[in-house]
Amino acid sequence: MINDLWYKNAIIYSLSVATFMDSNGDGIGDFVGLMRRLDYLQGLGVTAIWLMPFQVSPQRDDGYDIADYYGVDPRYGTFGDFVEFTHAAKQRGIRVLIDLVVNHTSNEHPWFLDARGDPSSKYRDWYIWSDTRPADANKGMVFPGVQKSTWTYEETAKAWYFHRFYDFQPDLNTANPAVQAEIFKIMGFWIQLGVSGFRMDAVPFVIAKKGADVRRPTEQYAMLREFREFLQWRQGDSIVLGEANVLAKNDMEYFGDAGDRLHMMFNFQVNQHLFYALASADTRPLVKAMEATKPRPVTGQWGMFLRNHDELDLGRLTDAQRRTVFAAFGPDKDMQLYDRGIRRRLAPMLGGDQRRLELAYSLMFTLPGTPVIRYGDEIGMGDDLSLPERTCARTPMQWSNEPHGGFTKSDKPLSPVISGGPYGYEHINAAIQRRHPDSLLNWTERIIRMRKEVPEVGWGDFSVIDTGDRAVLVIRYDWRNNSVLFVHNFHAEPREIAFAVGLTGDNAEHGKLLINLLSEDHSRAGGNGKHQIVIEAYGYRWYRVGGLDYLLRRTEAGGGPAGTGARSG
Ligand code: BGC
Ligand code: CA
Repeated sequence: MINDLWYKNAIIYSLSVATFMDSNGDGIGDFVGLMRRLDYLQGLGVTAIWLMPFQVSPQRDDGYDIADYYGVDPRYGTFGDFVEFTHAAKQRGIRVLIDLVVNHTSNEHPWFLDARGDPSSKYRDWYIWSDTRPADANKGMVFPGVQKSTWTYEETAKAWYFHRFYDFQPDLNTANPAVQAEIFKIMGFWIQLGVSGFRMDAVPFVIAKKGADVRRPTEQYAMLREFREFLQWRQGDSIVLGEANVLAKNDMEYFGDAGDRLHMMFNFQVNQHLFYALASADTRPLVKAMEATKPRPVTGQWGMFLRNHDELDLGRLTDAQRRTVFAAFGPDKDMQLYDRGIRRRLAPMLGGDQRRLELAYSLMFTLPGTPVIRYGDEIGMGDDLSLPERTCARTPMQWSNEPHGGFTKSDKPLSPVISGGPYGYEHINAAIQRRHPDSLLNWTERIIRMRKEVPEVGWGDFSVIDTGDRAVLVIRYDWRNNSVLFVHNFHAEPREIAFAVGLTGDNAEHGKLLINLLSEDHSRAGGNGKHQIVIEAYGYRWYRVGGLDYLLRRTEAGGGPAGTGARSG
């Protein structure tokens, strides 16, 4: 039964239809274009796609301002195209997750227009109003520096409305049972059209108590259970992947002690401390974050990511740690955003150095959870800092060295394709990389294939093995009597480390042999039971812990590749 939990070991790829592939030459990506790229995604090894919002929207926040939850924005295609797409994905064994943005609507949503125009409207209480300007109207902005307040006066309504995000995104009154019923209806609708679940936007704000008199927004966690129950009833294998950048001590409130709330959450704690480790070569805070976020129900899973469509939020680091990451990866003011983060893409942050990119990706694929890739990172795409805020990292996918990177035939793409310089489509594109065995694209494809052969990462228990060197992280996973072990060197210099695998009892013998899954360079423990490994600058190793019986079986089978994956299912 438990093997059915597909999300425990999925390979999730996030993309925006708008910037992926334009099929009809109007400069805007669309579902038909995306469909033509499904074989590319399947070839890469992707098993689930997370789509950014594609519903009807005035597009003032890249679709995170929805004006109709039950419509496909005509710029991207029709309902027919959408259903063809989910079907085509399904045929290739790829699931589709979509964004569920229900903390707020667009201020152009008919509900809001109705609500503001008439105090007796049935939609009035779907939003949060105040007759007077609330005292803390200048507090709690999500986009400080850009967003001025969280309450704005509405002329027609002659009242103030609450908006946790931009002023054109009025918050829904999610405590209102009618709003909750509508959220279920939205989920049920898209489930029916072929999706396998939702990336729920801004979860802590969705479930927070809202109102002019609320001083500390307390979370109504019970709502999460209701979402899950509804989904489970409609379609048993659908999930909610929550965006909740919260303190580790609150994680279990989101997962639910009984595993009855969110199926998945993005691990923002590990994400931020991972970037700190990459910046400082000190893995100790990362290990702390891993340990702190270890507890989760059997059915719960972390989403592991490097960069997403937003800024790299460093708000959970100490001031000193944040300064270190800024200095290493975003030293210019223009690279930073909202007083807490960096808006660049991964490749430019790491200086385009493939060793460091591989290290970062290798970590994302082997830290405890399910990897979530951002489109374009598999080819090392860059950013365009001349574009405002987060849009700098949302430029069109670079497919080839044809004009506009092969993204569109139009001369007016909705966002300029990166051109010229080290990250221009002329050099960085999928077509060129497909032809080079050592390209980042082909490396990513190979590492994904191997990741699928180590289900221990998704299912197993991890332990961090002490090497005495803070620059080197060694993690072991155990599951069903199998173990795998990963070594990562964050340092710019080679390191020599010694460690014992740490298995006991019958398994102690196994620990003496480490089968390298990525090369022929296996490791045998010395007389003291320890492995002595010299690992190159930014190096990484993936090992299967194998004992004598492994070697025997290999001989019986007449050799065969040493990189054999899982020993049993
Ligand atoms: C999304 C952002 C969006 C915001 C408002 C977030 O948490 O990730 O991209 O701007 O919600 O919907
Ligand atoms: Ca188009």
